[in-house]
Amino acid sequence: MSRIAYVNGRYLPLAAASVNVEDRGYQFSDGVYEVCEVRDGRLVDERRHMARLKFSLSELRIAMPMSPASLSVVLHEVVRRNRVRWGIVYLQITRGVSRRDHAFPPAGTAPSIVVTARNLDLAGAEKMAGDGVAVISVPENRWERVDIKSVSLLPNVLAKQAAREQGAREAWFVDRDGRVTEGSSSNAWIVTRDGKVVTRQADHGILKGITRTVVLDALAAQGLKLEERAFTLEEAHAAREAFITSASQIVLPVVKIDGRPVGNGAPGLIASALRRDFHHYAELS
Ligand code: PDD
Repeated sequence: MSRIAYVNGRYLPLAAASVNVEDRGYQFSDGVYEVCEVRDGRLVDERRHMARLKFSLSELRIAMPMSPASLSVVLHEVVRRNRVRWGIVYLQITRGVSRRDHAFPPAGTAPSIVVTARNLDLAGAEKMAGDGVAVISVPENRWERVDIKSVSLLPNVLAKQAAREQGAREAWFVDRDGRVTEGSSSNAWIVTRDGKVVTRQADHGILKGITRTVVLDALAAQGLKLEERAFTLEEAHAAREAFITSASQIVLPVVKIDGRPVGNGAPGLIASALRRDFHHYAELS
């Protein structure tokens, strides 16, 4: 079965789906994106992802190319046409096509929109969660507005590749003060020896993950102790547990940081329980 993409109003086989070489996403990374988990063919937390999309677009002064209701139809249709059971739907909106010039294109230039979807390996993901993953640390070298979910991801790409080359799943960015901001494509969490769950406050310095928001709801509902503050790499090394969160990875236990075991070196109880219960707190549509 050939995969299908939605591109500017048309559903096309992936091989035929393309954008103009003067698309500003291609020329300048001038665009934003969202990734939603798909579970049993339904979208997880579509409402929150669409709210964040609106925020990213408005921060970059890119117009929303279609009504939220039409966009929702397109997202579900791309999932359906690709027969996604468990996987992701990817949405990208750029400032559109215009002769290359750094400044904004003429008023009225239509934003470009692309939607793709694909199945992921559920059994493989569950095995990975059962084993736990390794992370490495890398210096924070991104701009000051990473709360905008922009497609400009070069530092994230290089950090993820560094992780791969060291046999790790994720790279955690560490700022000049030795504090972890977040992962290259996930939010970072620890559980301290005295049982407090810690994740960085969501200011301009991290992406306010939708999975993060749902996990905060789950922690509150379960009466677990939470601290929204930056934690240092030293604290992470001394932690009882660590984990990462993102739409495609849900909650993934971290068992090694820079080659050193976290806690007893096995996935933590809190991380594993949060993963198990996550969809109880998420919305399906
Ligand atoms: N990444 N931080 C960064 C830098 C991210 O790229 C992501 C998501 C997150 C977690 O956000 P959420 O819980 O809303 O997925 C945090 C997506 C999945 C990606 O780039 O593929």
